[in-house]
Amino acid sequence: MFKSKKLRLTAAALCATMMVAGLAACAPRANNPAAPEADLTPAADSFGVIKAEEWAGLYPHQYETWKANEANAPEGKDNYLETYPALNTMYKGYGFAKGYDEAAGHSYTLHSITETPRVTDATLANCITCKTPQFTALVNEEGDGVYAEKFSDLIDLFDEPVSCYNCHGNDPTQLEVTSGFYHGSLGDAAEATPVEAQVCGQCHNEYYFNAAKVTSNPYDSLAGMDAEQMLAFYDALGFKDWEHPDTGAPLLKAQHPEFETVYGGQQSRMAAAGFSCADCHMATEESDTGARYSSHELVSPLESPELMEKCGLCHDDLAGEVAAWQKGVTDREQAISQDIVRYIEKLASVKDSLDPETLARAQQIHRHAQFYWDYVMVENSEGAHNPEAAHANLDKAEALLAEGFALLA
Ligand code: HEC
Ligand code: HEC
Ligand code: HEC
Ligand code: HEC
Repeated sequence: MFKSKKLRLTAAALCATMMVAGLAACAPRANNPAAPEADLTPAADSFGVIKAEEWAGLYPHQYETWKANEANAPEGKDNYLETYPALNTMYKGYGFAKGYDEAAGHSYTLHSITETPRVTDATLANCITCKTPQFTALVNEEGDGVYAEKFSDLIDLFDEPVSCYNCHGNDPTQLEVTSGFYHGSLGDAAEATPVEAQVCGQCHNEYYFNAAKVTSNPYDSLAGMDAEQMLAFYDALGFKDWEHPDTGAPLLKAQHPEFETVYGGQQSRMAAAGFSCADCHMATEESDTGARYSSHELVSPLESPELMEKCGLCHDDLAGEVAAWQKGVTDREQAISQDIVRYIEKLASVKDSLDPETLARAQQIHRHAQFYWDYVMVENSEGAHNPEAAHANLDKAEALLAEGFALLA
């Protein structure tokens, strides 16, 4: 097990929750005729995971709000291949050109992975890494070999989407990073960042599959959690996700670097001020009976009146600011995506007439510029998490393209 720091869970919060559940758990032990604590722990499934519904009685508010993630359904989500038509050229030859939709809520992780046209007969089990606690428990039990098994041999065994075990292990009074690969990549970030962010970061991160097909991160310290450092890592490794059929460039697909965008490189201002993912995405709510709990319905802060009240202490118009940050970033994403397509077309048309050295540099420019762009585009906040870092990466993509066009002129 990879136990992280203890959750700063106050006795009062726990008592409030337990009282509502009808348990006299907060009474001093001597006056408490209730069964010993061990008997309150529900049974685990065959993977060793205590499933969410087993906790419904003890932690009703956390359970109900966790269930509420069902409201964030895949229907009506953005189809990125339509929003960014350039992707059809940029991702040519790779699975993401077949289908790429905006994320839905945690209730749908297993649904989405079985629906996506990206999964084929060749897909490995490592694609299940961030979809279910049962896979996480299986890897923790049987080791890294599980990652290289066939997707189709395992997927039907699982029936629990992202749930309590992923972030708490089998003890909801603690926070625990259960994904071993990510825990191992944190290095000094394990101490330098809050565990209320690490539990999210174990899935909301930039990862790749290493030579043994094990899910891995391209860094092992906080300093490495930056697009430029990660590129250097992938280059040194000679790693590519696929080769572009028109330019021959060895390309990389960025994943969803939320954790690295917030904490890596030039940290976001809110992260530097001590705010974690949970501070912005999990409101403290109060039940009818006055019990205070963290909402486990993970929403945009703009959708939560409780969060907006907290943010309003400093932000007069957070919705307006977020919209402006997002527009600034997404407008540039659109413009630069057109430039990348023009660059791909240009390189494809002159490729055969270039000397080997010029060709290699021209292909590397395609690889690097597209990675910087992708790194910003696939980050789920559309630039809000760290507008400065997003612009800095888009600047790098632009500078590379300018160099590339000059090289091929
Ligand atoms: C995606 C990660 C995640 C999942 C899944 C998750 N939790 Fe939590 N949980 C957290 C975080 C983070 C906190 C701390 C919030 C804070 O301090 O702001 C927390 C806090 C808690 C607490 C402490 C009291 C409180 O409300 O703050 C309890 C109890 C709890 N969770 C129970 C559960 C149960 C039961 C489930 C499953 C039904 C669950 N959690 C699923 C991340 C998660
Ligand atoms: C075990 C992996 C895992 C953990 C842990 C996890 N997430 Fe997620 N999260 C996902 C996946 C996968 C999706 C996309 C689901 C889909 O589209 O089917 C997602 C989707 C989301 C969404 C919805 C995105 C949208 O556009 O509507 C939000 C918000 C979110 N996560 C926030 C968080 C926060 C905050 C935490 C920590 C408290 C967290 N997640 C922890 C895997 C995880
Ligand atoms: C300073 C507050 C803040 C912090 C810290 C923060 N987020 Fe966000 N997050 C936002 C805002 C604002 C948005 C954009 C919401 C919108 O477009 O309505 C967002 C969007 C998202 C989305 C897309 C969901 C959606 O509804 O658009 C995901 C997923 C997400 N954040 C995950 C995370 C994770 C994981 C972390 C920690 C590594 C994190 N966030 C840290 C404020 C924050
Ligand atoms: C203590 C004051 C304070 C509080 C409370 C606060 N913010 Fe901020 N926030 C700032 C400052 C200062 C900045 C820097 C940019 C600026 O001046 O607008 C900032 C920037 C941001 C950014 C841009 C990304 C970054 O970190 O650079 C986001 C997104 C954000 N805040 C969201 C939120 C959300 C969501 C909440 C409520 C959960 C919140 N803030 C609460 C002071 C605060």
